[in-house]
Amino acid sequence: MSREENRKIESGVFDEYTKKTIYKLQNKGYFDTLDFPISTGKEADVYRGTTRDEEHVAVKIYRIETSNFKDMKKYLAFDPRFDEVRNNKRGIVKQWCKKEYKNLRDANEAGVRCPKPIKAINNVLVMEYIGREDGSPAPLLKDVEVEKPKKVIKKIEEYIDTLYDEAELIHSDLSEFNILIQDQEPVLIDMGQAVSTKHPQAEEFLERDRDNLEKISKQSKFK
Ligand SMILES: Nc1ncnc2c1ncn2[C@@H]1O[C@H](COP(=O)(O)OP(=O)(O)O)[C@@H](O)[C@H]1O
Ligand SMILES: [Mg+2]
Repeated sequence: MSREENRKIESGVFDEYTKKTIYKLQNKGYFDTLDFPISTGKEADVYRGTTRDEEHVAVKIYRIETSNFKDMKKYLAFDPRFDEVRNNKRGIVKQWCKKEYKNLRDANEAGVRCPKPIKAINNVLVMEYIGREDGSPAPLLKDVEVEKPKKVIKKIEEYIDTLYDEAELIHSDLSEFNILIQDQEPVLIDMGQAVSTKHPQAEEFLERDRDNLEKISKQSKFK
């Protein structure tokens, strides 16, 4: 852990429960240091981590206090894999984190390019780091111009279909903020809210993802 991040943990930026979870993951060897925050959001912070073997991982730490539980419950409900949506904050965030782990696993198995999940404990998810040669994180689709924009759009379209047909999942928050570009290829991220195709609002979410992609494809940089 860098001195700065260590201080952050000690100074109480993370609550006791989160600190314990981070220590547990470190003790089990999933990462050794938290290097720097890649992103701080309303629901989660994402850090680059490094293992003892000098491999990078992405560490997504869900916030217990400020997460939007009403929304989370909406996406957790009706999912046959999570029948018992618990009513306390920790329980919900823990399930949410596990849900993102499983969604990433199922998407990967179906052949959709997204970070490979490594481990989820409580509110912390460790996954494959999507980075560049120099160790910096891969940029968001919204911030780059790709060499072959049409090809990238087509690939994302294919991923929406493969997710639906093979993994029986709908991303449900697809946008240029949740797609990274690594080696000119799209990588889908942020799968916590992805729902089963059996969800009562499945078709609505699918349509929204498709609309979002269409809007992206209409931007001048994709023509
Ligand atoms: N596996 C990863 N590898 C590299 N960067 C990542 C990874 N996952 C997330 N990020 C970065 O962290 C940001 C937030 O992650 P995301 O999963 O979208 O969480 P949020 O719920 O805050 O939107 C992303 O926009 C991306 O820049
Ligand atoms: Mg996101």
